[in-house]
Amino acid sequence: MALRVVRVTAPAKLNLGLAVLGKRPDGYHDLLTIFQAIDLADTLTFRHRAHGITLTVNGDPSLPKGPENLIVRAATLFAHALGVTEGAEIVLAKRIPTGAGLGGGSSDAAATLLGLEALWGVTPDPVLQRRLALELGSDVPFFLAGGTARGEGRGERLTPLPSPPEAGWLLAVPEFRCSTREVFENLPSGLTGSIQKLRMLEDAILNGDLEAFARHIVNDLEPGVVRMQPRLARIREALQRLGAMAVGLTGSGSAMFALFRSQGDIARLLDAGSVLEGARVCACAPVDFGARVVTEDDDHRHPDPARG
Ligand code: C5P
Repeated sequence: MALRVVRVTAPAKLNLGLAVLGKRPDGYHDLLTIFQAIDLADTLTFRHRAHGITLTVNGDPSLPKGPENLIVRAATLFAHALGVTEGAEIVLAKRIPTGAGLGGGSSDAAATLLGLEALWGVTPDPVLQRRLALELGSDVPFFLAGGTARGEGRGERLTPLPSPPEAGWLLAVPEFRCSTREVFENLPSGLTGSIQKLRMLEDAILNGDLEAFARHIVNDLEPGVVRMQPRLARIREALQRLGAMAVGLTGSGSAMFALFRSQGDIARLLDAGSVLEGARVCACAPVDFGARVVTEDDDHRHPDPARG
């Protein structure tokens, strides 16, 4: 059999809005959120092996390569659930910053499920696929479809939505990271839950109304995260001073995004410098897909330049 190569792109996400509705008996929180996949992405390459899973990480030496890595966990879980005895060699090109609320690890996990389906030629039924995804993390099911979606429950009950109104988007990634578990553990009591604002945000998306969309961007996790990392308040202020229509925190941070009237505004700002209050700033754009196989090739015809 010819060696097959499967390459998968794994986009990052933003939470355009996030309301915390309450704590559940299983320790998780019920959420109402609107996810948006963006064009910042990792790439995963899968090659066939007789046995075992190996992972090589390029681009972030701090990431674990063993069973603690969500990619290895996803591959092991998937092989076990489908009774696959073959193995895979996986190479991750890491571009999505970690600990930033951008969902990079979750997207990589979804990409692993989809990549191994293609590599091993197995097709789990969609219910099993979603169950495996949720077992790997609350945000993993979103990345199986991506685009724009309302998420409920832990974030796994998904309803697709149209793309948000045309705008310019800026991403600001601070040098510090946030732990999702810590942020949820330190939620302020007396949380109101911005359900109404989330509903208006969804209406604004459905109506293509940029002004209303900008007005209803909200994240209930932000006050707690700012208490832990006060520098975020300065990043927010700096983005507002640049003329952002709205600034939002994605997930449990640390990354923030800012909305501008047009991509032209962004180009002008980036000329002025791409570091703001210690945060790296870059343009980004919504995409209407999630983790997806981009190429399936015969290794002999298309050798991977990154393989060395
Ligand atoms: O599901 P995931 O592993 O991404 O969640 C990381 C942590 O974030 C959980 O251990 C939990 O403390 C918190 N969390 C939560 N409610 C959610 C999602 C995450 O409390 N809906």
